[in-house]
Amino acid sequence: MVPARKNGYAIGAFNVQNMESVKAIVEAATEEKSPAILQITPSVIKYAGMGYITGLVKNAGKEAPVPLTMHLDHGEDYETAIKCVDAGFTSVMIDGSFLNYEENVAVTKKVVDYAHEKGVSVEAELGKLAGVEERSVEEKDAILTDPNNAIDFVERTGIDTLAVAIGTSHGAYKFKAASKLDIDRLKIISQKVSIPLVLHGASSVPAWILEKATKYGATLGGAKGVAEDQLQLAIKSGIAKINIDTDLRLAFVGAVREVLTTSTKEFDPRKILGPAKDAMKEVAKGKMRLFGSSGKA
Ligand code: G3H
Ligand code: 13P
Ligand code: ZN
Repeated sequence: MVPARKNGYAIGAFNVQNMESVKAIVEAATEEKSPAILQITPSVIKYAGMGYITGLVKNAGKEAPVPLTMHLDHGEDYETAIKCVDAGFTSVMIDGSFLNYEENVAVTKKVVDYAHEKGVSVEAELGKLAGVEERSVEEKDAILTDPNNAIDFVERTGIDTLAVAIGTSHGAYKFKAASKLDIDRLKIISQKVSIPLVLHGASSVPAWILEKATKYGATLGGAKGVAEDQLQLAIKSGIAKINIDTDLRLAFVGAVREVLTTSTKEFDPRKILGPAKDAMKEVAKGKMRLFGSSGKA
């Protein structure tokens, strides 16, 4: 991510839950000659089991001809982050964004001390990822990342990457009107902080993915993501890691729905999940091109 920030591109960080999503990202990265981050949330560890999900990703790391990171996404406390470092993650996020500032500094610093000792990098978050549309300037200031705190936070914790809140939110319903990120705030943060910056909640909810899912019965009215030109502006202003989960999920569900609707006699899981893997792979390849990481492995 350091060369990415320096050279004006970003690495896609893709949420994985199972074999199909892991293979989708690895195949995409291999075909695009792109580095990639495969990220795992605590709820995925609960769903799949630590051994199964890390086994899949470690195997991917051994086989893939491109550099991959196994990253903990939204580690909620010190114990979770430490467990993941010990399980072989090469990068962990400690998400103390729901704590008060001093508590966030303290837990983040504790994770950094442990992780750096083992050569594992650490991401932390400052500000809150919540919808900010239709909020007052004062409310926005309370939610979004404060550039002055950002420099203090980075210096006191020693983190490797900083997740910023600049108007995105998780999931498929980010905006009612046109998407708008606080790029001016991002520019100020990146003048003050030189480490790679991270953008969560960055799915674009593209119309073509939505149309397919809807065609085969999904009810996703009002879904709206971050416009692609806003992401490119964010990359120009210091974002070097971009988190994508929702767009992969939407592609997955559209493909599964299509098979189940058009091939009603099909009951082989491989014929149902294979196309879903391919659909996620196409989405990931598009992101790698958009973020400028294609050809950088
Ligand atoms: O921010 C992370 C994900 O989009 C939510 O992931 O449902 O696996 O906790 P999860
Ligand atoms: P999306 O919901 O926009 O895909 O964001 C994913 C994310 O930030 C994972 O940490
Ligand atoms: Zn996130």
